[in-house]
Amino acid sequence: MSGVEPVGGSGGGASGAPSELEEMLERARGALANAHAPYSRFRIGACVRAASGRLYAGCNVENASFPVTQCAENTAIGAMVAAGDRQIVEVVIVTEGAEPCPPCGRCRQQLTEFAGPDVRIHLCGPEGVRVTATLGELLPMAFGPRTLTRPT
Ligand code: THU
Repeated sequence: MSGVEPVGGSGGGASGAPSELEEMLERARGALANAHAPYSRFRIGACVRAASGRLYAGCNVENASFPVTQCAENTAIGAMVAAGDRQIVEVVIVTEGAEPCPPCGRCRQQLTEFAGPDVRIHLCGPEGVRVTATLGELLPMAFGPRTLTRPT
């Protein structure tokens, strides 16, 4: 993957200040360290920032029944919803692999439930941000909550 973008720049409120991003990275790294990934040995940490400013981190949680695995983003979103937040304004995903790790299709759909197309998703390695993309770039023409509006 190519196209690494600077983070924070012109912003316009879609992205937090560099220190906020660093805090998100720290939270995601901390979650990664707690990942339960004995089967894939591919640990992932995620952190979502809610509109309230609160941060929610999560890791992947695997299962001996392999398809039952829970993704890191899913864990973070679940923690956010359980705490009462509903709007995601920024996302960090951290892996230890050589390549940036984009969210899987299921996670993109779950993010769409709580994040708009302009929300920035930072794909990070242990050293920091590698690639930044918006949710709209990762999931164009999304099927989202607004798709379900019915004629009155
Ligand atoms: N995984 C995530 O946590 N998030 C993603 O978006 C992609 C995949 C996890 C699931 C599994 O534990 C491991 O990565 C390898 O697929």
